[in-house]
Formats: sequence, structure tokens, C-alpha cells
Amino acid sequence: MKKIFITGCTGYIGSHTCVELLNAGYEIVGLDNFSNSKKEVLDKIKEITGKEIKFYEGNMLDKTILSKIFEENEIGSVIDFAAYKSVGDSVNMPVEYYINNVSSVLTLLSVMKSHNVKSIIFSSTAAVYGDSTIIPVTEECETGKTINPYGTSKLYCEGILKDLYKSDNSWNICIFRYFNLVGAHKSYLIGEEPNGTPANLMPYIAKVALGELPCLNIFGDDYNTPDGTGIRDYIHVVDLAKAHVSAIKKLELDKKGMHIYNLGTGKGYSVLEMVKTFEKVNNVKVNYKIVKRRPGDIAVSYADATKAQNELGWKAELTLEDMCRDSYMFTKSLKNKGVK
Ligand code: UFG
Repeated sequence: MKKIFITGCTGYIGSHTCVELLNAGYEIVGLDNFSNSKKEVLDKIKEITGKEIKFYEGNMLDKTILSKIFEENEIGSVIDFAAYKSVGDSVNMPVEYYINNVSSVLTLLSVMKSHNVKSIIFSSTAAVYGDSTIIPVTEECETGKTINPYGTSKLYCEGILKDLYKSDNSWNICIFRYFNLVGAHKSYLIGEEPNGTPANLMPYIAKVALGELPCLNIFGDDYNTPDGTGIRDYIHVVDLAKAHVSAIKKLELDKKGMHIYNLGTGKGYSVLEMVKTFEKVNNVKVNYKIVKRRPGDIAVSYADATKAQNELGWKAELTLEDMCRDSYMFTKSLKNKGVK
């Protein structure tokens, strides 16, 4: 069996996907430069699965290491996770974001092409829809009105992949648009480890519950939603990882095609609902205060996830309670280990 090459294999989604693929019997070659992850994740993956990935340390922009990986291994398909993902940083460092997120894809695709590997799953984001007027968001909804360089960088990558497929339809391309991923593996050995103060809701709530941050700032309660706070589609990272296993199986069967799927649960929850569920599930108190809206936030975003269900046979199974419990337990395990 040919191997799967995973870029960003020690990151939040990459590590969980490695676990699911190894458990499903696939062999993995991985690349990471640990720009937003830790070397220990490789040991954790082994501890969870009892299996190892063949690992290369390096940067996606380095054509030499990418070529070496394709020369030394028989690669069947690629899953491209390696990217910068902080919305805030992307506004302050657009050039770095475009180089890292867009140039890396171009480098990867050119190396894949020269080794005649034409099968790729690409990590995109619901941010490509911007503030969609249609809710739930289907894959047919308009894209392009992105509001930050992170979202725009992913949009450009989608465009590159679409042009590539137009030019040569023997490629086999799957684009996943992720909604708001949260949670951690039930071993609590891997999960999200944000650098510094988290920008996203769930890790922030967890740190407030653990007393590491004083209070959650809820960004606005004057949106046009039932309780006035923003609504999002939160999906457990293990469910999301499993979608990649389903997609790999589809790529193996289809041989060629271009497919785009939303990955969400299809349900939207408000910030206040998240806080209440988190408190109930974990039996903790989350102090919060309402502050003004965060610039660039939209009121409501949740997915129509039926296309992935119909075509990949995949559906998110884990509940909001699972997400709140696993996010809390993982953050607590970091605290117990003294990780800041
Ligand atoms: N929120 C707060 N307080 C916080 C953090 C967030 O009230 O401290 C609110 C936001 O206003 C929003 C909701 O919680 O209503 C979710 O915010 P996140 O920052 O967790 O997530 P976003 O929906 O803003 O963005 C996330 C990722 C993006 C990705 C997008 C896709 O950060 O990279 O989901 O849907 F593109």
C-alpha cells in the first residue's frame, strides 16, 4: 500500500488525523517544522496508536526536503495541513501569511506533479464564505468576501487547486472547509495548545474555568440571534480527523475528481450556550462579562454538512457535551503538567 504524506502532522488537526489514519491501518510519512507544535506529539501519537510515522523535520517552503520525501517514499496521496491559522496575526503579518500558506501549496503541488502524485486533501476554512447571507452554509454559497488575510490565503489556495484541476482533470482533489473545531483526543495526550492567550472561544473558556484567566469577554450580545451572542458550528477534532479517513478512502476509489465539503455538525450554538454547557458538563464556573463586538466577527455561521454525509458517508458523531468535556480535560492536563 502506498503511503499518505501529511504536512503539519504534529499540529492540532494533523496529530488527530495521524491517529485515526494509523488506527485505520494506513502508513504515514509526516513533515513539520514545529512552528506551532511540539516534538513530543510524535511520541504521543505512538503512545496512543502503538504505531510510528516516518517523520521529516522541515519547512514546506523547502523544495529540497519535499522532493527528498517523494524520492524516498512511495506516496499515494497527500493531506496538506501545514499553515498558519491565527486570524489576528494574519492581519498584522499578511506577507508572512501569504508566503507560508500560499507559496507552500505551490511548492507542494509542483513537487507532487513532478513525482506524478495527483491526489490531495486540502485544509480550507469556513472563513472563505465571509458573512454568508445563506444559513446553513452550503458548498454552493458564494465565496470570496473574506475579511482577513488568513481567510484570503485559504481562498487563494482553493483557486489554485481549482485552476490545477481545470488544466488537468486527472488530479484527485478534496477541499475541506472546516467550521469551528474544538475538543481533544480522549487520551488527553494530544489536543490544542495555543501559544499565549487563546484567541478562540473554547480554549479561552477552559482557561477561565481553570483560573488561568480571570474572565471571558463575550464579544457582543446585540447580534440578531436569540440571545444576542454569536452562533457558530463547533465540531470535535476527532470527528473532523475521521472525515479525512473517509476522504482518503474516496480518493482511493475515485482516482480523479474535484470535491469540496463543509465539515461541521450542521448545528449552531451561541457563545452563551457554550458557556452554560461547559459549566454544566464540567461542573465549573466560567466568569464572563459582555464587552463590545470584536471587529470582523459575524453573527451566525453554521454548516449544511449533508454533502459530506451523502458522498463520504461521514457524519459528526460527538456532541457538544463531548467537546466541552474533552477541551476542559485536555487543558486541565496541560495545567497539571505545568504547561502555560
Ligand atoms: N468569542 C467571544 N470571546 C472570546 C473568543 C470568541 O465571545 O474570547 C466569540 C466570537 O465573537 C464568536 C465565537 O465566540 O462569536 C467564536 O469565536 P472564535 O474566535 O472561537 O472562532 P471564529 O468563528 O471567530 O473563527 C474560527 C477560527 C477561524 C476560522 C473560523 C471558521 O478562528 O480561523 O472559525 O468558521 F476561519
